[in-house]
Amino acid sequence: MTMLVVANWKMHGTRTMAETLLESIAKPAADVVNAGGTVVICPPFTLIDRLAQGFGNAAFGWGGQDCHVNTQGAHTGDVAAAMLKDCGAGWVILGHSERRADHAETNAGIATKVKAAHGAGLRIILCVGETLAERESGNAEAIVLSQLAAAYQPYVDAVAYEPVWAIGTGKVAQITDIEAMHRSIRGAIAPSTQVLYGGSVKAANAKEILATHGVDGVLVGGASLQQNEFNAILHAALSQQI
Ligand code: PGA
Repeated sequence: MTMLVVANWKMHGTRTMAETLLESIAKPAADVVNAGGTVVICPPFTLIDRLAQGFGNAAFGWGGQDCHVNTQGAHTGDVAAAMLKDCGAGWVILGHSERRADHAETNAGIATKVKAAHGAGLRIILCVGETLAERESGNAEAIVLSQLAAAYQPYVDAVAYEPVWAIGTGKVAQITDIEAMHRSIRGAIAPSTQVLYGGSVKAANAKEILATHGVDGVLVGGASLQQNEFNAILHAALSQQI
């Protein structure tokens, strides 16, 4: 099975820090790619152009963490999908729960972004996931399937299941819950779309998560900024591929 490993740097990263980190993970990333997998780094917008040029021959794919629905215009502070493409990105993360929370993104708005990103030729990672209250009230699956129904298109490359309560908290979903949710998601999407897990993925749990039935890769936040942690995650992905 070929794995997709995505690093979501969020609002972290300066030029020096980024280059040092990427040099230290280039070899294990290349090993994953040579074995048929994919490694996508999603730095802040400010770094994509420089990193895509500087590490152009390396194994990394590059992604944005969001894009605007329009191709251009009077939208101060926003970045269009075609601009991401122009500076070297091939991918974009859409519908991340932090954007849903911080920027009041709705399923309908995310659906429009999905179409805009596709129109610009970007590959799309669509994030879905329930809050703790939604899980505790037994609505996790219904919420995730409704997020998919609103925004998923068959050309989406990956759906990332990220329980909101597991992001950045150190709490990871039970393996049985991950497996069950991935099965539900799989039933609602095209065979070519990969299903990733995200939420406190780290060196200590990556192997077990990546070995879980229905998990085609991981979306990694905090641990993707730490060389040793991300190296171990890449090794875990490689061991699933060989
Ligand atoms: P985390 O973040 O790995 O720090 O929990 C994952 C994400 O938000 O994509």
